[in-house]
Amino acid sequence: MATVLCVSNQKGGVGKTTTTNALTVGLAARGLRVLAVDFDPQGNLSFGLGAQRPVEDPRTIYQVLKKELPFSEAVQHMPDGFDVIAANLLLSALDIEFTGAGREYLLRQALAPVSGRYDAILIDTPPDLGLLTINAFTASDYIIIPVLCDLYSLQGLIQLNSTLRQVRMRSNPEIQVAGVLLNRFNNRERISQVVRETASNIAQSLGMPLFRTTVHTGVALTRAQVQQENMLAPGQRSRAVGDYRALVNELLQRKVVMKNG
Ligand SMILES: Nc1ncnc2c1ncn2[C@@H]1O[C@H](COP(=O)(O)OP(=O)(O)OP(=O)(O)O)[C@@H](O)[C@H]1O
Ligand SMILES: [Mg+2]
Repeated sequence: MATVLCVSNQKGGVGKTTTTNALTVGLAARGLRVLAVDFDPQGNLSFGLGAQRPVEDPRTIYQVLKKELPFSEAVQHMPDGFDVIAANLLLSALDIEFTGAGREYLLRQALAPVSGRYDAILIDTPPDLGLLTINAFTASDYIIIPVLCDLYSLQGLIQLNSTLRQVRMRSNPEIQVAGVLLNRFNNRERISQVVRETASNIAQSLGMPLFRTTVHTGVALTRAQVQQENMLAPGQRSRAVGDYRALVNELLQRKVVMKNG
C-alpha cells in the first residue's frame, strides 16, 4: 500500500502546491511509484506538472469521486515517470453536491483500490479547512505543513491543529504530522532566525515535528512551475531546488515514504 501524504495549510500562498510538485518529481526520480492528486479547484498542481485539464474535460478527480469515471481513465502517466490526477474548477462543487453522512470519506474510498500500485500518493489541498481538505486528511497517513517565515503564519498552526484533532476523533485516528516545513527562508533576515525558533517552540507545543530542511526563497521554483518544467531536473541548480532535494532525502531517511516491493 502507498503512503498517503497531504500537503496542507489553510493559509494561501505558503507553498503547498510547490511542495507537492517538488516531492512528486523528487520521489519519482528516486525510483518510487508516485501518484500526485490535485485536490484544489485552482488546478495549480495539475498545471505545474503539465497535466492541466480544462473544465470541459470530464477526466478529473471530480468525476472519479462522483463515480462517473474509473480512476484508470482519469489518471495521466507523465513522461518523467509519475502519475497525476488533475483537478479544475468543477471540484469546488463537491461541497454542495455531497451533503449526506460519510462525505468526508470520498477521496479515501476513491484511492483505496489503486493504493497498491504506488509507493507514495501526494495530495495538494486548497487554502481552507473545508470539505476538500477534510477529505484529504481522512485519506492520508501524514500531513506536511508548509509555513512562511512570518509570525502570523505560525498562529495558523494552532487552528490547523484543532481541525486535525477533530479529524482524528471522527474520520481518521491514524493521521500524523510528518512535519512543519519552513518555506521562503532567508538566512540574512534576522526575523527568519526568530521565526525558526518560534516555529520550533510552537510546533513542539502542538506535538508536531519541524522538518530539519528549510526551503529558501528561489525564483527557480516559480519559473519551473510557470514553464511546466521538472522543478528538480539535474539542470536546476538553485539553493531552493537543493532544499527540496534535501526534503526528499529527509522523508526517505526517516522512512516516512519508501519503495515497496
Ligand atoms: N521557496 C520559494 N521561493 C520562491 N517562490 C516560492 C517559494 N515557494 C513558493 N513560491 C511561489 O509562491 C507562490 C505561491 O506558492 P504555492 O502556489 O506553492 O502556494 P500554495 O500554498 O499552494 O498557494 P494556494 O494557497 O493559493 O494554493 C507561487 O508563485 C510559488 O511559485
Ligand atoms: Mg496551491
